[in-house]
This record gives sequence, structure tokens and C-alpha cells, in this order.
Amino acid sequence: MTDLDSAVWPMGVTRAAGGVLAVGGVDARALAAEYGTPAWVVDETDFRARAAAFREAFTEAFAPLGATVDVYYAGKAFLCTAVARWVTEEGLRLDTCSAGELAVAIRAGVPGPDIGLHGNNKSDGEIARALDYGVGRIVLDSVPEIGRVADAAAQRGVRAPVMLRITTGVHAGGHEFIATAHEDQKFGVAIAGGQALAALRAILARPELELLGIHCHIGSQIREVAAFEATARRMLELRAELVARTGVLVPEVDLGGGYGISYLPGERALPIGVAARALAETVDTVCQELGTRVPRISIEPGRSIAGPSTFTLYRVGVVKPVTLEDGTVRTYVSVDGGMSDNPRPIMYGAEYTAVIANRVSAATPVLCRVVGKHCESGDIVIRDIRLPGDIAPGDLLAVPGTGAYGRSMASNYNHLPRPPVVAVRDQASRVIVRRETVADLLALDVE
Ligand code: LLP
Repeated sequence: MTDLDSAVWPMGVTRAAGGVLAVGGVDARALAAEYGTPAWVVDETDFRARAAAFREAFTEAFAPLGATVDVYYAGKAFLCTAVARWVTEEGLRLDTCSAGELAVAIRAGVPGPDIGLHGNNKSDGEIARALDYGVGRIVLDSVPEIGRVADAAAQRGVRAPVMLRITTGVHAGGHEFIATAHEDQKFGVAIAGGQALAALRAILARPELELLGIHCHIGSQIREVAAFEATARRMLELRAELVARTGVLVPEVDLGGGYGISYLPGERALPIGVAARALAETVDTVCQELGTRVPRISIEPGRSIAGPSTFTLYRVGVVKPVTLEDGTVRTYVSVDGGMSDNPRPIMYGAEYTAVIANRVSAATPVLCRVVGKHCESGDIVIRDIRLPGDIAPGDLLAVPGTGAYGRSMASNYNHLPRPPVVAVRDQASRVIVRRETVADLLALDVE
């Protein structure tokens, strides 16, 4: 029960003297005392190591093919100025999807050529900012956007580096991947019906656009490599068809993100080395079959870098045993956050684990439900978990795997100020995103 499964926790997390949870040598009680709860605690060393591991695994796997790989960290998973710097320092590039994310990248000093801009409904302002800053690529998501970006580039007298987002018919994540001929979703341009080819021709017809390549992203939290392989094949076939019809061999193929992580003990992540080697093999085989040169590859992992590097530290408040109809007792453990700092359980039925962080307990485990403090009965952090029966108000509860899509999707529901993000490295801690205050919330109200 107090075992820390290394697949779920940041690598710097240990049980220190007295069983207190520590990260990078820093005691969880000290973190709670200094920064308050709830707080996201990110193991900076772990985060950086995961970023570097992606770069190394993919570079190594594709090197025998003579292909280079660019890893773009998907900022939507979790972005702030410090994180933008970490990924750049680890040799990654940065994928942004809004003017806000772009602003963070710019503030962090990420060089323009290392930034990508996504979005299925980019504003004129977003396109303008991206061109003015000189981003390395704008991923066009629809046919109307081709003309808009070309016109904006023409106005500035620049050539816009672009990719086209393709929907391949492979969707994956959470469930088994399914292949469909017809695309019923908002992203990208479908291969089906020659739509992607027509859009690529339209891009080639605009001299203000430099077509770098084709892009895809098939889903998130994918743990089977077959979905990525099937996608890579379709993308390479599209690239071969384009060269056959137009004589233009686009240099780059982006295979997106979506690499799954483990949220629960015993759940296995998709090992990055395995994914990299499988993809390199697929790319090699398919390019040989098609007689095309191996492209430059890019990928966009978000969750698999940010997610496992972080845990949320909560303080336990009310503990309420409830006797169920069948006579069993469920203990409701209320924490000082909830669906505002982690909307994933209520949005996706996502599951998490937790441990008491301020001590170890030998008490017999009891069935618990960890809930938040919001005015909503669906405000559940963990639906079913066995926690020590002596769990009590004042205990600290740590929930791992919350680094991705936690802070980035957090809200102020019920006027809860969003918690801070605290980075720990080399036995020292520091705030990288400060806690919101009630004053921050009031500052938005116009009287
Ligand atoms: N590239 C593109 C174009 C994307 O849309 C995404 C995620 C990624 C990369 C990164 O995917 P990742 O490696 O993080 O799976 N809020 C959901 C996840 C939404 C993912 C959206 N796109 C969640 O909390 O599970």
C-alpha cells in the first residue's frame, strides 16, 4: 500500500526517514508547509530525463535510416516559462496551439525556428504573431486556412513554412484503434476521397507557402504500437502518391504525440524505445516498398513527458464513513482541491492512485473514495482506492501522474484559486507557477 510503483511515480520520489514521501530529497511535509496545498510538485530531473529520453530513443532508432528526428514537446500538456526552457535545454522543440502558448514560448526565449503552431481554428492574430516571430512551422488544419496563411505571408513579404494536418482514418487512445474510411471529426484534412492530395496541391500552388511536410496526430494515451505503425504507413503512402502526381517529395512527416503512460500501479506505459524502434522499422520497410527516400521525422509527445514527472499534494480534510446498502463501509476522504485542479476523472473517467505522504501507516486498508471540495457530487479524484484505515484530517495525500492536462486544464470552479506548480531539483524547491489568489480572481470583475 505504501509501495511506490516506479512506473507511476517520478523517479526522484522515495520514502525518507519515518516513511515520509520525499522528492529529490525534499520532504513532502516541508513542501506543504512552504507552499501550501494543494500543489503540483514536479520532479524537474525526471521531467528533463523523459524529454531527453524521447530525443535519444528516436534519434538512435532512426539514425541507421539516415533520418533525423525532431521532438516537439506538446505544450498543451503543461506549459509555463520554466518548462519551455527545460525542453529547449534538453534539445527539444515546442509545439504550441494558441496565442497564449505562443506567448509563453516567446517569453521563454524559444527560438522561432524551434516552434510549431497548431490549431483547427487559428485567429488572424495567431497567424500574424506566428509569422512575425518566425515560427518554424504552421500546421495548416483546413483548406480555408491555406489561403489565409498564404495571404498573411504575402502581406509580410515572407514565405511561411507549413505542414498539412492529415486525418489518416486511424484513431486510437483509450480504446483499441479503429480504422475508418470516413472522417467525422474537426481536425485535419482526410486522405479519403483525395481531399488531402487536393489540399496539398493547393498549398504547392501558393508560392508564399513552403510545404515542409505532412502531419498527423491520432489520439492520446495510446499504449499499443500498432496504431502508430498503421498511421505511419498511411502517411508515407500519401507522401509517395503526392510525389507521383506532382513530382514534389515533401521532406518531413510528423507522427504526432499520444504515447501512453501508466496512471495505476501495474499499468504499463508504452516504452519509448520500443515505440521508436517499431516506428523506424515501419518507416524503413514502407519507404523501401514505395521506393521513396526516408523523410525527416518529427513527433509531438506531451503527456508522456509531463504526466509522470508530477504529483499533486493535497491536505485531507473531512473523513466520512458511509455505510452502503450491502453493509460495507466506504470512507469519503475529502481533499482541499478536486475537479478544478484535476478535471480528468469527471471528464474522461480517468483513474489515479494515491498514498499518504506525511507518514507510513500499518493500519488495515479500507475502501475509500477520494473527493474534492466542490459543490458537485461528481467531484471525485479517485473513485475506489484502499487507503490506511487511520487516514485522518491533516494527513497529506499525494496523487501521481498529474503533470499532464492537470494545470493546463484546471479551472476556477467555485472560485477556487488554481494551485501553484513547485519544481524540485537537487534537493531544492522553487515555484515555477505561483498560486492564484482570491485577489487574482476579484481582479477580473469589472464594477
Ligand atoms: N500533437 C497534437 C496535434 C495534439 O493535439 C496533441 C494532444 C499532442 C500532440 C500531444 O498528445 P499527448 O502526447 O499528450 O497524448 N486532455 C486530454 C488529452 C487531449 C490531447 C489533445 N491533443 C487528457 O487529459 O487526456
